[in-house]
Amino acid sequence: MEITLDGRAAIVTGGSKGIGFAIATRFAASGADVAIIARGREALDQAVKTIGTTAKGRIIGIQGDVAISADLERAYGEAMRAFGKIDIIVNNAGTSRTGAFEEITDEIWREDFDQKLFAAIRLTRLAWPQMKARRWGRVINVLNVGAKAARPKSAPTSITRAAGMALTKVLAGEGAPHNVLVNALLVGFIEADQHVRAAKKAGIPLKDYIDARIKDVPIGRIGRAEEFANLACFLVSDAASYITGTAINVDGGRSPVV
Ligand SMILES: NC(=O)c1ccc[n+]([C@@H]2O[C@H](COP(=O)([O-])OP(=O)(O)OC[C@H]3O[C@@H](n4cnc5c(N)ncnc54)[C@H](OP(=O)(O)O)[C@@H]3O)[C@@H](O)[C@H]2O)c1
Repeated sequence: MEITLDGRAAIVTGGSKGIGFAIATRFAASGADVAIIARGREALDQAVKTIGTTAKGRIIGIQGDVAISADLERAYGEAMRAFGKIDIIVNNAGTSRTGAFEEITDEIWREDFDQKLFAAIRLTRLAWPQMKARRWGRVINVLNVGAKAARPKSAPTSITRAAGMALTKVLAGEGAPHNVLVNALLVGFIEADQHVRAAKKAGIPLKDYIDARIKDVPIGRIGRAEEFANLACFLVSDAASYITGTAINVDGGRSPVV
């Protein structure tokens, strides 16, 4: 099946690295105009350059922090000025934040909700009316498998992600009559810059870090960001016109629940 996104315009938050970068690359190569949002200018510029080598659509990089409402409004405005409309939103920006429950302060809880849940709420709310009016829209919320199966010491991330799953369901119900389809993709363990940083911080080779974490992955390896991007691309295409309100594990079988 050939998937084309010709004529579509997308925003991918956290599109300068890892999973978001792979999604933006796939969307742009499939014909969509793509705006990526991230905080770091250098990585954004590099990503735009790299994505541009295979893009059929236009690609722009917008600097901003998705945890800050004003940044999101400015970024959305820039993308609208560049493309004239937004058909697709991928709420992906984020980092894993976990710890023992009693050590998580109000500030940490708030930061996590701002960066993940409120970022998705605010950006989707900006694009929602025009998606409904044009009777075509797609929203993907990138979450993690902890949303369905929270483990000890997985807060605040797993809690924020569970709320993201409820948000997905609410939006799917409200968007469906207007052909605005909303789904969640739940990450297990996917190749990304965050793991390179984590291995460095732990002072161990990346291979050792990965080997230790794939023990509970039935497929027996870390996922590639491109494998994740393939599913995202399918879900935002016309080929997925009857799929909404789902939360799909992309985890090599790691999650204990379906
Ligand atoms: N890879 C995994 O195995 C895994 C597992 C569970 C969940 N996830 C989730 O999947 C998503 C993508 O993660 P990844 O692994 O691809 O991470 P990554 O390699 O660290 O990339 C994260 C991207 O998000 C951007 N970003 C982070 N915070 C941001 C903010 N406040 N505002 C704007 N941009 C921001 C980063 O750029 P700047 O830092 O320059 O802003 C970067 O472009 C995240 O939500 C993550 O929590 C991933």
